Amino acid sequence: MKNVTIDTITQAFVDYCSDDTDPRTMFLLTKLVEHLHAFAIETQLTHAEWSRALKFATDAGKITDNERNEFVLISDVTGLSSLVDMIGSQHEGTSSSVLGPFHSVGAPLLPVGGDLKKDNEGATVVVEGYVRDLDGNPVEGALIELWQTAENGLYYAQDNTQDDFNLCCSMKTGADGRYALTTVKPAPYKVPDDGPVGELFRATGRTPWRPSHLHFIVQADGLKPLVTEVFANGDPYLDSDAVFGVRSDLIMDYVECSDLDALPDDLEIGRNATVPYFKVDFDFVLVPENS
Ligand code: BEZ
Ligand code: FE
Repeated sequence: MKNVTIDTITQAFVDYCSDDTDPRTMFLLTKLVEHLHAFAIETQLTHAEWSRALKFATDAGKITDNERNEFVLISDVTGLSSLVDMIGSQHEGTSSSVLGPFHSVGAPLLPVGGDLKKDNEGATVVVEGYVRDLDGNPVEGALIELWQTAENGLYYAQDNTQDDFNLCCSMKTGADGRYALTTVKPAPYKVPDDGPVGELFRATGRTPWRPSHLHFIVQADGLKPLVTEVFANGDPYLDSDAVFGVRSDLIMDYVECSDLDALPDDLEIGRNATVPYFKVDFDFVLVPENS
């Protein structure tokens, strides 16, 4: 088409595409281009502004490698990752939350009651709960994966002073659907802010901090896998999470306890907890696979 105008360029894009294009691909691309064109018209975008945006994208490409993906981070800090997550999980079970970049496949399998803390610095935290279905039935053999930062706010993959898979494990629930383990309290941390995403934070006066959290993936036969996080009540960043992951049902108290006899009986550490220690109770409710 010659002589496209502000009013015809969006339809021209659609007309250029082959009728054989996969329908969902065509739908998504058409909507994307419609919204991009509408954005440019509504904001009366200038060459200088668009060049700045393209430099931002180019810089994101330059800093991206096998270890770090700035495009995923842009999706996270603009709320797009959380939005896609919420669209795909509008159900009655435990809320889902962002996966983040620090999930490692192959973490060691601990028995129920196992110790993840080992010689990590910090107070002992006992995390315990049940996996249930929507009817409240316990889910036996659910596979739980957990990963978290050490007290210094770093995941093992970011910190060469930590062993591989430090503070990462998997665990299978028992017949009663229960899991339990000992660990340390994770710390709040900043998402990487030394690249384009950092510029975005500084330009908008936003904080790059995330509230402290435990990451979980819970999977069981016939139920929808759940990717979520559990946050600490009272954390200063609960209302400003850089990646929009906090949901009310995911905020838990770290209850301070001093009675060693109140520890669950099946802990690998027996009664050898720091005093005071902290107790976090968190149950997961999984929905049927196709909901
Ligand atoms: C995280 O929770 O590990 C995370 C999530 C999004 C971006 C960066 C880190
Ligand atoms: Fe995290």
